[in-house]
Amino acid sequence: MMEKKSGKENNGSEKRKRLEKIAVFTSGGDAPGMNAAIRAVTRAAIANKLRVAGIRHGYQGMIEGDFVNLKARDVSGILHQGGTILKTARSKEFFTEEGRAKAYENLKKECIDAVVVIGGDGSFTGAMAFTKEYDVPFVGIPGTIDNDMYGTDYTIGYDTAMNTIVDAVDKIKDTASSHGRIFFIEVMGREAGQLALSSGIAVGAEAILIPESTSQEMEMEKFLKKGYKEKDRSGIIIVAEGGEPGRTIKIAERVAKEYPNLDVRVSILGHIQRGGTPTAKDRIAATKMGVAAIDALLDDQQSIMIGLVKNDRIVHVPFSKAVKLDHSIDKDLLDILRVINI
Ligand code: F6P
Repeated sequence: MMEKKSGKENNGSEKRKRLEKIAVFTSGGDAPGMNAAIRAVTRAAIANKLRVAGIRHGYQGMIEGDFVNLKARDVSGILHQGGTILKTARSKEFFTEEGRAKAYENLKKECIDAVVVIGGDGSFTGAMAFTKEYDVPFVGIPGTIDNDMYGTDYTIGYDTAMNTIVDAVDKIKDTASSHGRIFFIEVMGREAGQLALSSGIAVGAEAILIPESTSQEMEMEKFLKKGYKEKDRSGIIIVAEGGEPGRTIKIAERVAKEYPNLDVRVSILGHIQRGGTPTAKDRIAATKMGVAAIDALLDDQQSIMIGLVKNDRIVHVPFSKAVKLDHSIDKDLLDILRVINI
């Protein structure tokens, strides 16, 4: 059974009790494909003779004891559904010692030997704080549309969100071109521009403004100056929200003032990017990572995130690296943009 740590870290030298029951939960922002991951974790665990509990409402549900037993058939029919059947939350209480103590008591009461958390950096930071205090193995599966985790090329939900953006922007482009307008389109990505960068390439954006690089600002000015002289010039500028509410509106207002000839509009795509049916890519990635998470636990791994790198090879990334180190954007895409946007 799991133990509260008595000041000293478990260095792995003591043999851990054989796993009998695991818990799985989703945490932080939802992402399409999370259900596929829940299904894979549940089925892989049961295939290995483990019992499975789902924790509802993320860490908050762990604190409040909101557990449900999951059998193989309980996760039928969810592979293609967006959102998360286990619900999710961003729990402030879990970031307190008292909250984590309550969560530990509930895991003990439910006889949970190990935990799989599906979420992003906030979720893994929570897992790190918990596993420093309590000897409970945690394995993470990266689930966030932002694709901003260090150590993995892919996070669940990214491909679906990208396709949602492309679909929406293609529609907006009809209006942009019919009216000869410049559209500033804000996409999600708190402090991360990968989603903006890739979707911008996919829609043929004139410029892509992301927090990691200022190089596209000049490209935007070049385009606006040209457009200022040409009648009927339309264009799409993709802006990553970058953790700064109102950023896109501010940029558009400045441009409208500086270039009064241009007909400028703003469109903030918002949470439509987080919902919807997961693409095949997201379902496959989620299924692979779900099975890999159970393999890792059976292999006595703990405090690691499952990652996919270089043609979908599974890797184990320590939580401490996954949350602290920066995931760099694909810089080649910025060079490609400069070539294409002439
Ligand atoms: O982390 C995923 C994300 O979608 C970010 O891109 C975005 O900034 C944030 O979640 C929005 O969170 P919420 O739904 O809590 O407003």
